[in-house]
Amino acid sequence: MPITKPEESIIKEIEEQRPSYPVGILSRQERDLLIERGARSLYRWYTTRSQKTRSWHPDHSFNWRALRTDHSPEVNTVIEGVYGIENYAPDYTTRATHMLRKSYGRANFQLRWGAEEEKHSDLWLNCMLFMRFRTPEWIEDYMHYLRNGEWQAPWEDPLHLSMYVVIQERATQLTYLNIALFARGESDKPGFEGAADPELVKIAQTIAIDEAAHYNFFLEIARLYLYYFPAQTLDALVDTIKHFAMPALHLLPDGDKFMETMYRGGIYGGREYVTDVLKIALKHLGVNDRRALERGIKRSRQAPGPDGEMRETTFFDGFEYDVVETSVKRLYGRLKEYEEEVGLADIIPTQFVPSGLSGS
Ligand SMILES: [Fe+2]
Ligand SMILES: [Fe+2]
Repeated sequence: MPITKPEESIIKEIEEQRPSYPVGILSRQERDLLIERGARSLYRWYTTRSQKTRSWHPDHSFNWRALRTDHSPEVNTVIEGVYGIENYAPDYTTRATHMLRKSYGRANFQLRWGAEEEKHSDLWLNCMLFMRFRTPEWIEDYMHYLRNGEWQAPWEDPLHLSMYVVIQERATQLTYLNIALFARGESDKPGFEGAADPELVKIAQTIAIDEAAHYNFFLEIARLYLYYFPAQTLDALVDTIKHFAMPALHLLPDGDKFMETMYRGGIYGGREYVTDVLKIALKHLGVNDRRALERGIKRSRQAPGPDGEMRETTFFDGFEYDVVETSVKRLYGRLKEYEEEVGLADIIPTQFVPSGLSGS
């Protein structure tokens, strides 16, 4: 019988497609549970830190009478717009809490998160009132108009939502950092060049710090998903990036004008999205080449496990699993320290469990 020898090119192709790491050993349920435990512990860590370091109040933490009352129409458009977006905090909170209701840690986190977002709404409302650009009656009408709209979630599943919020919080943080920048008098963009206002700096910085904390929470959650479900999570991440838009823009009476002003003012636009939002967030998520990831994601990167169930592999073009693993280990280190301090570690410690995907 002739011995058929496979062509070298075929062998090479198979070799290339073979996962570089052994497939995972944890079941889907086990991995779900690990994410849930991690999220629950992180939520407790978060609330402690939030209460200790960010307990400001929209009325009393600022000297409202010191706010400038002669800002340009451009500055005013930006403030009205960010108020409009933040004003939907009850919708964001309701939808997200409901979507995540099966996760104790995440659903409760959304309540706390919502309470922090609500403060942003109050803060911008005060800002509109004290800037005196509009009459209180105009502002009342604006609020009424906004309340008639209702925000709908861009994604209906927890995984996509979990990716969306990472990008969204980073985008919001950047917006506020850029508001602080023009309020420091550092912008040369038309309408913003004379906008120096120390009180507005304080306001924008205070909110930017909150948004950074939100970003960090959601980033850790996204890393947990990436660590335990890399294939599905990267898929959801690519989807989210493709369709990302700032929330509630279409609900504003003049969302186009707002975005145009943000763009012209160098506060937020396509360039900022790519360089200061996506690049940063993706780096934090272990993605070093977005294009390569998008191309690679089309190929199936799952392999059958011993029980016939498809197992995840961690080899993806443009993605560094090791970076995520290091971050996840660091997170558990932080949680361990926190739980030891409280005493929870003596009873129900949250422990790091390797995914079994990295081969280490
Ligand atoms: Fe906010
Ligand atoms: Fe936020």
